[in-house]
Formats: sequence, structure tokens, C-alpha cells
Amino acid sequence: MDLEVFNLTKIYGDVVALSNVSFSHKRGSVLAVIGPNGAGKTTLLRIISGQLRPTSGSVRLLGYDVVREFGKVRDLIAFLPQDIRAYFYTLTPRDYIVSYLLMRGYSFNDARRRAREVIGDFELEEVADKHVMNLSGGTIRRMFLAMIFAADDAEVYFLDEAFVGLDPRVRVKAWGIVRRVARSGKLVLLASHYMDDVSTVADRVLVLSRGRIIADGSVMEVLESVLGGVRRKIVIRDSPAQLRETLADLGYHVTVRTVGDMTFIYTNDVGGVASTLSDYGVRFEVNPVGLEDVVIMLGGADEHS
Ligand SMILES: Nc1ncnc2c1ncn2[C@@H]1O[C@H](COP(=O)(O)OP(=O)(O)OP(=O)(O)O)[C@@H](O)[C@H]1O
Ligand SMILES: [Mg+2]
Repeated sequence: MDLEVFNLTKIYGDVVALSNVSFSHKRGSVLAVIGPNGAGKTTLLRIISGQLRPTSGSVRLLGYDVVREFGKVRDLIAFLPQDIRAYFYTLTPRDYIVSYLLMRGYSFNDARRRAREVIGDFELEEVADKHVMNLSGGTIRRMFLAMIFAADDAEVYFLDEAFVGLDPRVRVKAWGIVRRVARSGKLVLLASHYMDDVSTVADRVLVLSRGRIIADGSVMEVLESVLGGVRRKIVIRDSPAQLRETLADLGYHVTVRTVGDMTFIYTNDVGGVASTLSDYGVRFEVNPVGLEDVVIMLGGADEHS
């Protein structure tokens, strides 16, 4: 296996960020990690890429131990951090991309050529030679994506929330590039809150909750395992008080999640619950479930009924 994660645990003070995480994975595909804020996604990516030491457990990436052989690992990966910022305001996107490639050991000519290619791939031609201080936030994010994928010497790409702030057109474009890179035999590991991105690009999804893997598989498999066969949900915008109790009293088997003033009801008896809600004059919508429901479901683990 190209990636072997064995019994990873990471403890920060009294926070258990990862707890006994183990899995393995092959190159040539996109592996996505999803889960609520604080679930441990960034911690996992940083440990796998050798930037952060685990409290216990180990990772082998392309045959190298990421802690003991970090020097080897570093040359094989490209990492886009969640909190990356463009600090050098007077550099241009082309400068950023070329400098990154020079630091990776590309010759100046190769770096220039490769920068030209990704500037085209990510449709950055018009801004490529403008100072980043004059660019929009989304354009800067796009520049960093281009910079990471410019590194065609890497075997493993880490994207931590890389699609934040991209407009829909650019996102679709980026999906194509991510898939193409994976199909060329590389491994792409991403953490994302955008479930459209994950549903579209991921070959495999790991669902993290409070530092543990609670589901693992294709998008369909993960939906099945977390939502237990529920295909549709009922969404209520301004939910009446005692809704949950009422439904439970009527004998419906439902899982209810409240997020602000929205309520999500997951049940196999959508018809029954819907007609009861109508009887009570409650307005609602029925929608198909998606990966976002996996995360909503995890949001309040104490909210079962
Ligand atoms: N340097 C640190 N020191 C202390 N605690 C940390 C540190 N980094 C992360 N944590 C904690 O570890 C847990 C996991 O954090 P992590 O950043 O991995 O989550 P995440 O899944 O990436 O969240 P998000 O969706 O917000 O990006 C959280 O409880 C966080 O507060
Ligand atoms: Mg994170």
C-alpha cells in the first residue's frame, strides 16, 4: 500500500485530536476526509505529511516512515495548508508559482514553463503578472491551487480546504484537474467542508468525528453506513417547540437534528411524518440526503430520539 496509517493518536494538552486512526490507501485516486469542525482532519493531514508528530502510532507514505524519513517524504509531497495567506504583497501569481518550483529544485526554465502551463490550466492569465495585493481573495486561493499542482514532481498532494472561496466555474475546473492528477497515478488527499466537491471528486471518503474514523468507503457506502438507508430528509425552517417529543409520542422512529432554527428529520417513514406535520400546520420541505447530512448527523451526537 502507498499510504499506511497505523494506530495514530494525537493529543494536544487535554484534547484528543486523533484516536487510534488506522487505514491504508493506494495511489491513483482521491481520498477525502470529512467531518465537523475540530474533528481532526487538519491534524491527520499534517501528520501524514510529516509536518506534525503523532503522540503515538506511525505513518508510512510511499514506503517511507514520515517521521524518521521526513527528508525523503518532503520531496514527494505538495501541501496546500488550510490557513495559507499571500504575505508577499508585491509578488505576482507567476512569481509565487515560479519561486515555489525553484524551491523544489526545478531549473529556472522548467519553473517558468510549468508556471505558464498551470496559469493556463487555472485560467489565471489575466492576473498572472499583477501584484497579489490587488487580487481578490478567491483569485489568490486559485493561485495557490495552481502553485501546488504546478509541482508535477510530487506524488502525493494534500489539499486542506482548498476549494474555499472559488467561484462555481473555477471549482468545476479544479475538480477536473484534481481527478486528472489522481488518474495519472498520484494520490490526492483532501479535507473539505464542501460536500459537492467531495461527492464529485472523491473515490473514497473517510468520515472523522472527534478524532475517530466512523465511516469509510465510497460516497454511497458512507451515506448508507451513517444514515442507515434513509434516502430523504424533512427540513423545517422555523421549527415549533416540542416537535421532537410530538413525533416520538406518535411512535415515529426519527433522528432529529436542530441547527439554529432549522430542523432536519431523518426517517424511513417520510410519508407518515410529513402528513403528521401537515396536520399540525407545519411548513416543511422534503429533500434527498447527501454527504452534508453525514456531518449534520454528527453535529449533535446527543440529539437522538
Ligand atoms: N496546535 C494545537 N494546539 C492545541 N489544540 C489543537 C491544535 N491544533 C488543533 N487542536 C485541536 O485538535 C482538534 C482537531 O483540530 P483540527 O484542526 O485537526 O480539526 P479539523 O477537523 O481540521 O477542523 P476544521 O474543520 O475546523 O478545519 C480540535 O479540537 C482543535 O482545537
Ligand atoms: Mg482543518
